[in-house]
Amino acid sequence: MSNPFYVTTPIYYVNDVPHIGHAYTTVTADALARWHRLLGDDVFFLTGTDEHGLKIQRSAEANGMTPLEQADATSARFREVWQMLNISNDDFIRTTEPRHIASVQTFMQSIFDNGFIRKGTYSGQYCVPCEAYYNDDDLVEGNCPIHGRPVEWLEEDNWFFELSKFEQPLLDWYAANPDCVHPLGKRNEALGIIKQGLEDVSVSRTSISWGVPVPWDEGHVFYVWYDALINYATAIGYGTDTERFNRFWPAVHQLLGKDILRFHCVYWPAMCLAAGLEPPARLGVHGFLLVGGEKMSKTRLNQIFPADLVADFGVDGFRYHFLRDNSFGPDGDFSYESMVTRYNTDLANNFGNLLSRVATVVGKKCDGIGPAPAADSPLAEVAAESLRDASAAWEALAPSAALDATWRLIGAANAHLENNEPWKMEPGPALDAVMGDALEVLRIVCILATPAMPETCAHVWARLGLAGTPDEQRLPEAAAWGGYPGGLPVIKGDPLFPRMSPPK
Ligand code: MSP
Repeated sequence: MSNPFYVTTPIYYVNDVPHIGHAYTTVTADALARWHRLLGDDVFFLTGTDEHGLKIQRSAEANGMTPLEQADATSARFREVWQMLNISNDDFIRTTEPRHIASVQTFMQSIFDNGFIRKGTYSGQYCVPCEAYYNDDDLVEGNCPIHGRPVEWLEEDNWFFELSKFEQPLLDWYAANPDCVHPLGKRNEALGIIKQGLEDVSVSRTSISWGVPVPWDEGHVFYVWYDALINYATAIGYGTDTERFNRFWPAVHQLLGKDILRFHCVYWPAMCLAAGLEPPARLGVHGFLLVGGEKMSKTRLNQIFPADLVADFGVDGFRYHFLRDNSFGPDGDFSYESMVTRYNTDLANNFGNLLSRVATVVGKKCDGIGPAPAADSPLAEVAAESLRDASAAWEALAPSAALDATWRLIGAANAHLENNEPWKMEPGPALDAVMGDALEVLRIVCILATPAMPETCAHVWARLGLAGTPDEQRLPEAAAWGGYPGGLPVIKGDPLFPRMSPPK
């Protein structure tokens, strides 16, 4: 049976509409899911929306809606944007769904039954946008360190998860699983938090009602984070379908931004241990997309929305940029100018130009019928290297490096054409060999690049006269040199990526 590959994005709060920061994580998860489908893995890709908590309750009030109306509306926006971006999620979870409410109650009840939840009083400085309490030391000039906004003093009786008991078990788990948090810097950050010492955390609220009821104490609802994190378990049948759950858990790859590292890399693994589960196999933590050096936020009015960029660059131009431009881990600054430059260089001048040159020469000198590649082409070696390096990079959560490896093959094919100048050659076996090699490169590139640009790659595949689609192919066999059979009609068509002029 094929390998299970379960990949998740964080679930997005429904007080904010999707911007390019959210899209960055989701497109990355989508590309990983698509890569693993090429490998023939049994892929399950989950995304969704986080709909409970004070923040949502207040934003709904401000909008004159009930929290559920607000959640319905914004959750639908997320679905639409993911559809526009060709996101291939297998499920979309909403934390207000009955399946999730039941799963949270089962999960937390099992932590309670295992003796890791106690009663206590909580008070502290609370940031509503973060849905989190802060120590005085964490505050910056009295404000929330993330949002820079005033915090509120809250005091309530609630239930505590005995996180302090999990300091050593977490350290043991980190020691036994060197790859559990990626990249290394983020792993060290998480270990640093654990080593500083862990205090018990409050997991319930009486001050609000917009949440999942605590099954053993009516009048309390779970604090939104302890409801939200469990979504990753709900979607694969936690508490209802043990066989399915065990198939995908703990072999899960969870992607998240650095602002929610503490919840995912400390609290969540501890909750899993307390509930008697293995923590997730891999937590991939990325940096922020900044705009002009600042985090995007509603209050700063500097959010950029996917549809605006898609209008200029197309869906695949959008997907390619965000996968290629930032390496997964550090922060990256978004700029429209560098998006245009990258689009022109990588897509118009490299990929687009390769197809256009090949189709033109085949049209003029081979009667529009693509010749077969040579068995001993110098490009065969480059193609094998690209496959090897791209595979290793996708495995290491490095889409940018994977695409770089793929584009090296495009670069080599363009250089091969420039060296041989087939546009000056007479029709015959020598010309056929050069064109066959270039067509074979295009075929392989369509497969390797399909996780990033599914629509474009399917389109190029069809123009090469190939049957089916690149995403139906299986690696590594399909990328072995010599798959382009020759004798197929090659269609020139319009430029794949018309060049863009830099903004004035
Ligand atoms: N609802 C919680 C997550 C719960 S997961 C059990 C949440 N939601 S969020 O909508 O605020 O953020 C979701 C994800 O988007 C986070 O990983 C966050 O890092 C990411 N991003 C939000 N803005 C971002 C950028 N500007 N850049 C990159 N990612 C950022 O937190």
